[in-house]
Amino acid sequence: MSLKNSELNYGIVSRANHWLSAFIFIALLAVGLYMTGLEKGEDRQALYALHKSMGIAIFGLMVLRLIWLKFSPNPVQLSKSKFEHILAHSVKGLLYLAMLGMPISGWIMSNSGGHEVAFFDMFVLPTIIGEHETTHEISEFIHSTFGFLLIAIVLLHIVGALKHHFIYKDVALLRMVGKNKATAMTKNDIEEN
Ligand code: HEM
Repeated sequence: MSLKNSELNYGIVSRANHWLSAFIFIALLAVGLYMTGLEKGEDRQALYALHKSMGIAIFGLMVLRLIWLKFSPNPVQLSKSKFEHILAHSVKGLLYLAMLGMPISGWIMSNSGGHEVAFFDMFVLPTIIGEHETTHEISEFIHSTFGFLLIAIVLLHIVGALKHHFIYKDVALLRMVGKNKATAMTKNDIEEN
């Protein structure tokens, strides 16, 4: 078991980052959807605080992911056609963008609406912008519109992973799960794709 990615496989660090980010990200979307429908009160406030903390966690994991990529590039992508290759890259790019852009737009939205952004009870992020109505409205629009779009993007990503596993029967999902079968993949398998 290697810490680093190889040309064919994901290492432990990337896999751990992926699954931790994926879990937090899906929970974050669910909490985000639910909390906005609640009446103002303690429950809603607690969920907003949780949502913000999870957003900071995603941002931190994404920064770590980008640093790690410098030392350990991702393995080659397994795509059956040019179209799928472009689609997979676009979905991945949008997920990267979301993991950076959603927390930042949320941070701007909170600060410009007069609220702080804290990571649980551990620390508060610096205020990057004072109260400002127009900025608040624009960032709120971006954050919620892209948030809804992201549900579709994440679903597309999951469907893609399942398609590789059950239809193409390749190692795309197995190598992200860390099953040894992935190591049996040869260069020929990749060149065929
Ligand atoms: C049940 C949910 C999920 C499954 C089954 C899944 C599966 C996978 C698989 C199999 C890969 C490797 C693709 C390849 O190398 O060809 C991958 C990569 C990736 N996934 Fe997911 N994923 C899930 C959720 C998510 C979520 C919620 C996010 C977004 C936050 C996400 C972000 C990414 C990214 C950015 C990559 C590219 C590899 C990297 O840069 O680390 N995944 N996923």
